[in-house]
Amino acid sequence: MSVERKEFGTMPDGRTVYRYILSNSSENEVHILTLGATLHSFIVDDKNGNKTDVLLGFDTVEDYLEKSDYQGATVGPVCNRIGNAAFSIDGVEYKLTANEKDVTCLHSGGEYSFVVWNAMVIDSDTVEFSYISPDGLNGFPGTINNSVTFKFTEENKLVIKYSAVSDKDTFINLTNHAYFNLNGFDSGDILSHSIMIDADKVTAVDTMSIPTGENFSVDGTVFDFRQPKLIGKDIDADNEQLGFTGGFDHNFCINNWDKTLRKCITAESDVSGLKLNVYTDLPGVQFYAGNFLKGICGKEQKPMNKRSGFCLETQYYPDTPNKSEFPSCFCKAGEEFVSQTVYEITLAE
Ligand code: GLA
Repeated sequence: MSVERKEFGTMPDGRTVYRYILSNSSENEVHILTLGATLHSFIVDDKNGNKTDVLLGFDTVEDYLEKSDYQGATVGPVCNRIGNAAFSIDGVEYKLTANEKDVTCLHSGGEYSFVVWNAMVIDSDTVEFSYISPDGLNGFPGTINNSVTFKFTEENKLVIKYSAVSDKDTFINLTNHAYFNLNGFDSGDILSHSIMIDADKVTAVDTMSIPTGENFSVDGTVFDFRQPKLIGKDIDADNEQLGFTGGFDHNFCINNWDKTLRKCITAESDVSGLKLNVYTDLPGVQFYAGNFLKGICGKEQKPMNKRSGFCLETQYYPDTPNKSEFPSCFCKAGEEFVSQTVYEITLAE
């Protein structure tokens, strides 16, 4: 294993953004940027031995700052949506930035994804990124000491460990927003990828994509991915939930959640022969099929068209701070939030 640091670009205020490259002995690589602790590239051999970068992203700092749909970004302190951009702790209401349609708070207003994180090489296979978010940032209580470590292995496993400690009671729900295309970032849509998610239930949303509180059974619905199914098979089916979100963009409630790290999702493409295994210790995963991508040019000026990548954002359920019936992501002052997600890429058998 080896780690290398290269300059990636410059922030508007002149600070340098670095790219850390973790490589294994098969010359497969993971690239992470200090900007947003962003997973920039995941490069592996496909079934024909061609090096394939399976992540959507951009080539410049400017593009990340101006055009991003959170490609590869670390998101926090609370990812996904919070209804009416507010929550309460001990009877005190906190008003958050309403960055979506002036009503909901999406990805906490985005700061974590677009600031420069500090980086420290821990080992030849591990880099740690850290960021202290100020009390009151986008309305969230607490000065929060965040760290995300990325470790890459000889088996093409990318192990992501999240840690956060706040000096005030708060909510923490950190995730990564990588868009995968197992045929390569420049290879069209992901509709012919198959995916399997170990989830009997999915979180119902309203027209603003805010959970209603109900988790419905996937039995007999287009949301049943318990056996591998092509993403494209039902994505445009006449279904109220799909209509609200323009395609899959829902939280899947992972079966038998017990806070231990478990493999719960696989995705596969026949074209490249690549398979993605996702392990997490979290209770949910937002499966987002890239429905809102609209042809903005990314790496090598290739357009990222609608559904050219899919996200598997492991997390506590959306709007958890306002839903006492969901597993809680409440974090007491001084207590450490920890969680782990692994993205592993193998050749399909
Ligand atoms: C999340 C949401 C999507 C979309 C993207 C960002 O994954 O679930 O609806 O907003 O972020 O484009």
